[in-house]
Amino acid sequence: MANSPAPSADHLGQKLYEGKAKIIYATDNPEVLITYFKDDATAFNAQKRGQILNKGVINCKITAYLYALLEKQGIATHLLETTSEREQRIKRVQIVPLEVVVRNLAAGSLCKQTGIALGTKLEPSLVEFYYKNDDLGDPLLTRDRIFAMGLTSPERLTELTQKAEAINHILSQFFTRCGITLVDFKLEFGTDSAGTLLLADEISPDTCRLWDTSQPDERQRVMDKDRFRQDLGNVAAGYQAVLERIAAQLENPA
Ligand code: TMP
Ligand code: ASP
Repeated sequence: MANSPAPSADHLGQKLYEGKAKIIYATDNPEVLITYFKDDATAFNAQKRGQILNKGVINCKITAYLYALLEKQGIATHLLETTSEREQRIKRVQIVPLEVVVRNLAAGSLCKQTGIALGTKLEPSLVEFYYKNDDLGDPLLTRDRIFAMGLTSPERLTELTQKAEAINHILSQFFTRCGITLVDFKLEFGTDSAGTLLLADEISPDTCRLWDTSQPDERQRVMDKDRFRQDLGNVAAGYQAVLERIAAQLENPA
């Protein structure tokens, strides 16, 4: 399959990092980086690999919409500006090596590890922390493990939890208006040069579970990366439908 179109190299500096779904470039401002969204998709710690046509473009747009929505409601993010179909200027941050997962309904690894039935409502929602470390397979952590490993302070962990809960509140309400159920999602945070905690990375169908609320069929309702993980087909169409619903809701708020 073809690779994502090349980044528009004219304004890009040195490649600093290439991850599974994005590339980070330097700019001539040390406080500013460029993130480039690829079409590459991986799952199960990169044991499954593929491409989702136009995913980079769709996820770049969805992240731009959702980060603007969050900024409006007081959540500081790393995003400065979307500069092309696949590129965003972002503030350089030091990433906190934790994946913060919020779960409203049971799915994925929670069901596998606990036996809780798929779709069970979780009240209150769960906020979980996973160690961002591919070699270890991003293991689930406890508070005590986080402090024993020196990954962050108790104050920062409280701040991360509160921000994740606030983001969940805003996004759950917004997706409800889009006719989409926000089942769960993953966030990453970083600190800028002043030590301020900013929402970083992306929020997209790669990093959320999103179910079409009015679709009762368990396979057909899936609009996110589970279509790729579980070989459900029509992966790009699911992503595109999420983008269209978000755009329509923002243009014509119900
Ligand atoms: P999980 O059920 O596999 O633990 O995933 C929880 C949520 O986190 C789900 O919305 C998918 C997202 N996620 C990522 O964004 N990156 C990852 O590497 C994993 C494992 C999950
Ligand atoms: N992004 C992760 C990976 O490849 C896992 C996932 O999203 O399922 O490995």
